[in-house]
Amino acid sequence: MAEINLDKIYASFLIRLEECNSNDDLIELNKDFLAKDSVLSIERKKLPDLNDKNRKEYGAKLKKLNDNIESELNKKKNELLQKKYIEMEEKDITDISINWFSKEGSNKHVITSVMNEVVDIFSSIGYTVAHGPEAETSWHNFDALNTPDWHPARYESDTLYLDNKLDNLLRTQTSTVQVRYMSENKPPVYIVAPGRVYRSDQLDSTHSPVFHQIEGLAVDDAITFSDLKGTLEYFVKEFFGNNVKTKFIPHFFPFTEPSAEVLVSWKDGDWLEILGCGMVDPNVFKKVKYKKGTQGFAFGVGVERLAMLRYNIDHIKNFYDNDLRFLRQF
Ligand code: DAH
Repeated sequence: MAEINLDKIYASFLIRLEECNSNDDLIELNKDFLAKDSVLSIERKKLPDLNDKNRKEYGAKLKKLNDNIESELNKKKNELLQKKYIEMEEKDITDISINWFSKEGSNKHVITSVMNEVVDIFSSIGYTVAHGPEAETSWHNFDALNTPDWHPARYESDTLYLDNKLDNLLRTQTSTVQVRYMSENKPPVYIVAPGRVYRSDQLDSTHSPVFHQIEGLAVDDAITFSDLKGTLEYFVKEFFGNNVKTKFIPHFFPFTEPSAEVLVSWKDGDWLEILGCGMVDPNVFKKVKYKKGTQGFAFGVGVERLAMLRYNIDHIKNFYDNDLRFLRQF
């Protein structure tokens, strides 16, 4: 079998990567090395003609090369983004003190406007608004949401606890409002709960330790997964327009079964997850003392991500810097 030298391909990829100065350069590199008609895809087409042993071995080598190239491209993409922001900040020598006597008036922060807009879309189909506290008990944030104390999600989600006993915390998700609302109200339930949530996450272009979510919950007679899908498709189209491309893929959340994630197509062919959802797990209904056989669906939307997609914003930190040149655009 005439194998080409994959090490040489990787080496020439690295040389080209070194020379990349923009996203366009990266897209070009992706085209040459990973996309249709690239070196790798041509080699992959040879696999069916090989015998079992060679196919397995060569296939694994190609996969490894593919993964390495993909991960280097992502690393470079983040580096370029980081560089862009550092350069912008260094160049920025304007006086940032505000003219307090300006008569410009005020407008809402883009995050507030997006939250209001989402709430309006759901209000128009019969949902009301509910709220819950940001400082929560671990019971509302985890136990009642079918996430017992041995569950890895309690630690993986890098919770910011408020005491050494791990009984109180800054809520990691607005799903807590499901529990609070159902504990006080009988079905039918149609609510959305906008609010701030906290995680000890490292800041990168799409993650921040403080961000916003909108929780949704519908509990009524014979609610099914089709109702969930129909409702969320309606929401996504109302928010992004009819031409938006979405993917609905299976996922896992402790408090829903089955669960799914909705992704929306983003820049450079990437997909960005905007919400998690699913049919409420019977264990959650049990915790809030709803009767056996109750059915409902729930979802949690990331507000910053909606705004980033809608306005083509490439770094989440823009929302919190309070740079008026950014804020005035909305
Ligand atoms: N609470 C989840 C999170 O923060 C999001 C979520 C997923 C909410 C599924 C839901 C749901 O209500 O059904 O990642």
